[in-house]
Amino acid sequence: MPVISAPHDFNEGHLFVDLKPVVDHPLYLKCEGFNFAGSIKLKAANEMVESAERDGILKPDSVIVESSSGNLGVALSMIAASKGYRFLCVTDSRCNLSTRLLMEALGSRVHIVADLDENGGFLGTRLEYVRSLCASDDRYVWLSQYTNPGNWQAHYRTTAPQIARHFPRLDVLFVGTGTAGTLMGCARYFRQWHRPVRIVAVDSVGSVAFGGEPGRRMIPGLGMSMRPPLLDESYVNEVIRVEEADTIRACHLMARRGFLFGGSTGTVVSGATEWLSRHGTPDITAVAIAPDLGERYLDTIYQTNWLQDLYGDQILDGDDIATALEPDDPAPREPDRWP
Ligand SMILES: Cc1ncc(COP(=O)(O)O)c(C=O)c1O
Repeated sequence: MPVISAPHDFNEGHLFVDLKPVVDHPLYLKCEGFNFAGSIKLKAANEMVESAERDGILKPDSVIVESSSGNLGVALSMIAASKGYRFLCVTDSRCNLSTRLLMEALGSRVHIVADLDENGGFLGTRLEYVRSLCASDDRYVWLSQYTNPGNWQAHYRTTAPQIARHFPRLDVLFVGTGTAGTLMGCARYFRQWHRPVRIVAVDSVGSVAFGGEPGRRMIPGLGMSMRPPLLDESYVNEVIRVEEADTIRACHLMARRGFLFGGSTGTVVSGATEWLSRHGTPDITAVAIAPDLGERYLDTIYQTNWLQDLYGDQILDGDDIATALEPDDPAPREPDRWP
């Protein structure tokens, strides 16, 4: 029976969903959303705060400041509240309302930037604001998830060994990329593994993390409007880019089976499914990392008006979702259950 006294002391690390019945390919999903911060970013947040404490950078009057699309902000809010630090999150207008409210409920301040940077994202504007804060008062401590080695080390120490323990014959690992912390931690670990593991990075279309054209991205989490400083592409075998429409379809497909995941998970699952349909064999061992859960996306990915306004009326008309709803499935599902 786990008994904890700090919220970050609990993190479910050994839960996998067998997605074969949903995506029709052998794919196990490592679920990273079952902790009090609700996402994988708790691991990076914890590691970065602990290392700043060890190095004497964080003092009782420090104000932690960080640029985040939301999930790291929630994790840092929780840790800061638990340890008695103040925290200011610099985010942007794509941050979900519920995510912002969560940070405020935990006692943090949230600053939202609205001006796009030169790559059509908000990251440049967020970083400029963080730098100006740090220059204005030396009580601000910027952990800088984009450059902090604790970000990837957290996954080298925990996420990758947890996967390795349960899948000693792993062939391919799908990892979503934002700061590239998860990707680099896992890729570095499996580089030393006893057998080769194919590392497939999953990015969103419109992100410039691996190069390519910048474009509109409305779903926070994965993707970057600059090259991630932590990224070393020599560890990555392949990169897949996923359209937001496909992210949304993957989220709804899983939701129709009772698994409500978030946008980052939808992106990784969509990329993995597409890769497996090109390369997969029935006996391949494939794992994808699910960084988040779905509740924070109820007013976006799971809200019809938001979807139709941004992606058009046909967004949910794909074959895959229709298949999930087929009336002659063994277990009848909507719409034929409704009166
Ligand atoms: C929900 C979620 N998933 C995935 C990522 C990306 O993970 P990483 O920053 O380790 O690349 C983020 C980044 O902020 C995120 O918030």
